[in-house]
Amino acid sequence: MTTADPRLGHSVHVDVRGLRSDAVYYYRFRAGTQVSPVGRTRTAPGSRSKPRNLRFAFASCQDYQAGFYTAYQHLAAEDLAFVAFLGDYIYEGAPNPNAARQHEGAGEPYSLAEYRNRHARYKSDVNLQAAHAAFPWIVTFDDHEIDNNWADEIPQDPALQTPEAFRARRIAAFQAYYEHMPLRRSSLPAGLDMQVYRRLRFGSLASVHVLDTRQYRSDQPATLTAAQDPALTMTGPEQEKWLVDGLESSGSRWNLLANQVMWASNDRKAGPEQSFDFDNWDGYRVQRKRLLEGFGRVDNPVVLTGDRHCTWVCDLRPDFDDPSTPVVGAEITGTSITSGGNPDVAGFHATYDPIMAESPHWRYIDNQRGYIVCDVNAERMLSSLRLVDTIWATSATVRTAAEFVVEAGRPGIASVSEEQALLRRQPPAGPIYDVHDDQDAHPLRG
Ligand SMILES: [Fe+2]
Repeated sequence: MTTADPRLGHSVHVDVRGLRSDAVYYYRFRAGTQVSPVGRTRTAPGSRSKPRNLRFAFASCQDYQAGFYTAYQHLAAEDLAFVAFLGDYIYEGAPNPNAARQHEGAGEPYSLAEYRNRHARYKSDVNLQAAHAAFPWIVTFDDHEIDNNWADEIPQDPALQTPEAFRARRIAAFQAYYEHMPLRRSSLPAGLDMQVYRRLRFGSLASVHVLDTRQYRSDQPATLTAAQDPALTMTGPEQEKWLVDGLESSGSRWNLLANQVMWASNDRKAGPEQSFDFDNWDGYRVQRKRLLEGFGRVDNPVVLTGDRHCTWVCDLRPDFDDPSTPVVGAEITGTSITSGGNPDVAGFHATYDPIMAESPHWRYIDNQRGYIVCDVNAERMLSSLRLVDTIWATSATVRTAAEFVVEAGRPGIASVSEEQALLRRQPPAGPIYDVHDDQDAHPLRG
């Protein structure tokens, strides 16, 4: 029995204790005469266990106005231990009458009631509901849960939002986020703050280090010279120490970072001139180099990333401009559920293929919608790019467009297999025939 308090939007956050490890549970809620649909969850393996395998998905960036959640129709049918959501669960944008479907309200949300209504609009989607009902989720936020490109107490447009107004906005947005997300009570906001960076352990096989790269970060630099300032931080000093200590002492075979914005250098211009988005780790280069040098002391680090609305699979090295520095890890940036809309694939490759030719640490790029399924065992991590053919219709087909392998003990991306190679590897569709030299073909069962 728990109380749904109106001060928390009638949400409940039940921290159930005494469950068996590595077990599937079904649950529902009862309030008065109302009974909720049945949800399913799965507990983590015991901290001292040695799981053979861990299979999960990660996703990000689900702008409701950009299209339908066809990706979640398919994600909900996967066999997964959990879903990691890496940010941009809601978007704060005003309703757009020309969009595929519309946000509620009259403009951007600022008050608690407005953020609650925005979350309620997103949660009304049946495919999103199905994905939550099928798996436990590990969530963290990026910028759009509050305001585009916010940094600590600084809004996107300080000329238009006073510091007091933005602090009030952040408090409202955090509270609505907490109310609507599967977070433990340890993340209950206290004033301006919400504890979201945390660590989850899946026996000795993997640790998931969940980052918060908004609440403690320095404001984005404006130039490449300013981005070299060693004082700039993406995490704040406390979280950096927590991350470094946790990575080096996890005792886990794999160290997975649930992260928001791209670590790998991401030049946007072909030719000798360079152009960067300084909201990414490209804007916090000294801290990035320090952390990546530390990756050399970490067992199998793999960064999982959202934000980019594209798939970007990369080798990580402390200095991306010096290909002689060692590869220390891998980053898999996993497309988006809807943000960016149905893609212009040819236009994307016309722009980025020439830059890829100058960026040897980029191993695979794509701009279609979907999610990534990761299958981890002691030897390797296999990541499958699952793409839907449209988000501008209410249903879609899904396919595995590429697979990326990271081998344990060998930092970086070991191999990339694209769709044609994957199709060649699969058995042909339809009945299988047992062909004898002197007989007609006989269809076999199965
Ligand atoms: Fe996004």
